Amino acid sequence: MLLLRLSTGLAALLAAAACDPGVDIDPAWADAPLPSPGDPVDDEVADAGAWLFRRNCAACHHIGDSSMLGPDLAGVTRRRSAPWIAAMIRNPDSMLVADSIAQRLLAEYQVPMANRRLDGARVRALLEFLHRADAGEGGGALQPAATADTSGVTPSGLAWRRSGRGPLVVLVHGTNLDRAVWSRLRPALARSRTVVEYDLRTHGGSSDTLGPWSEVGDLDDVLSAAGVASDDPITLVGLSAGAGIALEFALTRSSRVERLVLVSPSVRGFAPRPGEVPDVFGGVRDALEGGDSTAIGDAMVALPTFEVGDADRPDVDAMVRRNLRLFAIDPTWAIPAVPAPLERLGEVAAPAIVVVGTLDFPATRRLADELVAGLPSARAQVVDGGRHLLPITDHAAVLEAILGSE
Ligand code: HEC
Repeated sequence: MLLLRLSTGLAALLAAAACDPGVDIDPAWADAPLPSPGDPVDDEVADAGAWLFRRNCAACHHIGDSSMLGPDLAGVTRRRSAPWIAAMIRNPDSMLVADSIAQRLLAEYQVPMANRRLDGARVRALLEFLHRADAGEGGGALQPAATADTSGVTPSGLAWRRSGRGPLVVLVHGTNLDRAVWSRLRPALARSRTVVEYDLRTHGGSSDTLGPWSEVGDLDDVLSAAGVASDDPITLVGLSAGAGIALEFALTRSSRVERLVLVSPSVRGFAPRPGEVPDVFGGVRDALEGGDSTAIGDAMVALPTFEVGDADRPDVDAMVRRNLRLFAIDPTWAIPAVPAPLERLGEVAAPAIVVVGTLDFPATRRLADELVAGLPSARAQVVDGGRHLLPITDHAAVLEAILGSE
């Protein structure tokens, strides 16, 4: 008999967790034959399974919702055999090493399925619950409302997009790039997060409008256009110069930023020492003086900053070449939002993770060290063999940095 009747109410769930009466699990269930599609459902076992599912699985899986961290489990008892599902729940670690389907899922979802160390009777109860959900009874209660993707342009001319559902993550790209740099990371992130991304002014689909504006003000505009409430805590992720913008935002809007993830950082006011940046920018300077946009594009894509390996090369080339407009614009455009952010690191309240590749420029690696040392609560995540565009070449490492604090 159940000690707890399953209720969809959150209050009941919290109360249940607080006093934790558990459910009656009969050890004999471990020996019951596994259910096949069409078998009658044992509701007592399935109810216990539903309770176990909420406690152990619902953080990553729902039934009838594909925007979570793990696969949508609707129909799983039809696409996989019961012994396979039992093995995946009981021992995901060895499945991920030895089973080709599990490996394919891992490649797609990028996070390993958690091992909840459940015994045979509990695994059996979970199977009964999944079985019942696929038979059309009881799954719907776990299905939250899905949120559609939305996108738009702010009144100030900035192109933005919002996708996924969950705690808020905001992505800020770097110079000569646009939000396509997140195209690999975003789908994985949107399974468990609300993701807001945008194109910086003079980049991507955003306008070149000048006049008085600042990076921080632009990000304010994007957040309000994307429907972010002013008290919604933000995990702010910046790549390269976007990391500098994230830092400036955290200094001026400190109450809004809950966490900072600074990837391959570049911060206004940081001066590389001689030899810390390879002597490759001369070609860009010459091309800029010549003013020929094809030559500027050629010189830009040749920079080691944009090195990503052959497979991703065409995408990155195209992205850099379509983001050269800023060179045609008066360099006095932006109002520096926060003078000398590096001197104010001690004021940054939000905890930070600084992600840097071992093959990035020495200057970037030194800046990463200075950020970790100077920010009150920061740690480094070093990507072995990583270069500058980590969201493209090492998106799993960036994903881990963003999700990893839980
Ligand atoms: C930390 C998140 C997480 C938790 C918690 C979790 N899973 Fe998973 N699960 C995943 C991910 C991610 C995958 C895809 C394989 C991978 O990436 O390791 C997966 C795969 C699966 C699959 C295979 C799905 C398919 O389409 O073939 C099943 C079944 C499953 N999980 C059931 C469960 C059950 C039942 C629980 C609770 C006991 C659970 N999972 C807990 C993340 C999680």
